[in-house]
Amino acid sequence: MNQQLATQLTFSVNGEPVSPQAVSPAMTLLEYLRLSGRAGTKEGCGDGDCGACTVALIGARADGNPQYQAVNSCLIPLGAVAGRQVLTADGITQGRIPKSPLAKEPVTVDQLHPVQGAMVETGGSQCGYCTPGFIMSLFAAYYNGGPDDLAVEGNLCRCTGYLPIRRAAQQVAQTLVVDQFSQQLAAASTELLPVACPGPDTQFYRPTQLSEVLALMQQHPDATLVAGATDLGLEMSWHRQHYPVLISLEAVAELTQMHQTEDAVTIGAAVPLSHIETTLHGVFPSLDEMIHWFAARQVRNRATLGGNIGTASPIGDLPPVLLSLEASLTLSGPGGERTLPLADFFTGYRQTELQPGEVIVSVQIPRTPAPGTARRLAQSYKIGKRGTDDISIVAAAFVVDVDADNTILQARLGYGGVAATPARATAAEDFLVGQPWAMETVQAVKPLLQEAFTPMTDLRGSAEYRQRLVVNLFEKFFVEFP
Ligand SMILES: Cc1cc2nc3c(=O)[nH]c(=O)nc-3n(C[C@H](O)[C@H](O)[C@H](O)COP(=O)(O)OP(=O)(O)OC[C@H]3O[C@@H](n4cnc5c(N)ncnc54)[C@H](O)[C@@H]3O)c2cc1C
Ligand code: FES
Ligand code: FES
Repeated sequence: MNQQLATQLTFSVNGEPVSPQAVSPAMTLLEYLRLSGRAGTKEGCGDGDCGACTVALIGARADGNPQYQAVNSCLIPLGAVAGRQVLTADGITQGRIPKSPLAKEPVTVDQLHPVQGAMVETGGSQCGYCTPGFIMSLFAAYYNGGPDDLAVEGNLCRCTGYLPIRRAAQQVAQTLVVDQFSQQLAAASTELLPVACPGPDTQFYRPTQLSEVLALMQQHPDATLVAGATDLGLEMSWHRQHYPVLISLEAVAELTQMHQTEDAVTIGAAVPLSHIETTLHGVFPSLDEMIHWFAARQVRNRATLGGNIGTASPIGDLPPVLLSLEASLTLSGPGGERTLPLADFFTGYRQTELQPGEVIVSVQIPRTPAPGTARRLAQSYKIGKRGTDDISIVAAAFVVDVDADNTILQARLGYGGVAATPARATAAEDFLVGQPWAMETVQAVKPLLQEAFTPMTDLRGSAEYRQRLVVNLFEKFFVEFP
């Protein structure tokens, strides 16, 4: 890496430059904020589920322009905020917030940021523990088209009730003013400079070129790759897992690009899901649907496709969709570059084809249906305990191409949560080809779907329930797309 460009661990919090000394770059941003006395940001769950720790980072929008992004500070390692601007609920008030509640000049409503003022006026806060997180989600959305329900889907409140909070969001949805924060945003740079942080116990690198990633992996065979840290952050904060060397992928040029041609879409492995959500909207409806139900805004602002595939979790939500779309992966390592179908990537429980020193560079999704296709039917389904911010019991994604006579030319049925890896129901797929797309065919394929997998029973659902979902979700697909 170009050591001349390497920066130490410096960033800004509410406009104030900070250079923490002798702290680990693996420490979470939340931990740092609170240890350094910035206790306005709260810790609820510590694992990305409640949103109490939400802060805003200035980052790049999908079109490259700067935007405020709501993120969970409990998941982000400090190294990942190097060179960035962090805003917290106690830094967005126009006036001074007195340090002591007994101070003579308490802050007045007209000194509050409009989203703070709206929460006061609508009674959007009771105990106040969740409030700084709601405020920062609303703040980020305020400068990004105006808050709506989705802006706060990753924030939980246990005492106020959501109606006053929704009213606060509605109150400021139409009132965007030019202020110091919009000016700060307009002037901000979104370029992520390379970083090399030695740290007392963890070395953190943020290279900008793929060749540098590969060289660092050779130098540090014990290194761990980190993209959005929405999985790894949990390992670090909750499970206190120690990683001696972290190599961040979020600034790597080759991994952060997207290309669309008539035939295929290529998505860099480190592109955040929220960018995919906006850039590819309408291109792959089944992907749109699954991303909509994927975690919540704060997580989607950080999580990546490479991370979702890299965890090799049997309940990762995007692999079933990508399997149904016949996606392939490009990997790069010491032996050069290779491309393989995603269907060949997962080799066992949490095991993959990835060799030591290799990295997932991109995901390619073909756009062209089978030759002779008159209609492509595609959808995805996620069954969880609750709609937003939950992991799947079973996820399923289907693509069926039919010709003008309604005969099935190609069928791809991807599932998650029913086997040791995300997998396709290949016997059912083979059966479907050549059959009419009709309820009789769906009934006839049911025994093959019933036997396709031998799922496990766990606290989320029984094996029998999962097996029924494998069958019933396909029937639901037919009913929705006859
Ligand atoms: C609150 C919460 C809700 C969640 N909800 C969902 C959900 O609804 N559905 C779902 O599927 N998941 C969910 N997750 C899990 C997580 O968000 C996803 O798996 C996400 O896609 C991980 O991406 P990341 O960039 O954050 O990965 P990271 O945490 O940075 O990395 C994850 C793993 O992948 C490896 N890795 C990352 N990039 C690469 C690469 N390019 N090449 C090789 N290896 C790589 C890393 O080394 C690490 O082992 C949730 C997590 C949280 C905290
Ligand atoms: S503390 Fe709950 S999401 Fe971070
Ligand atoms: S105001 Fe108490 S948790 Fe929301």
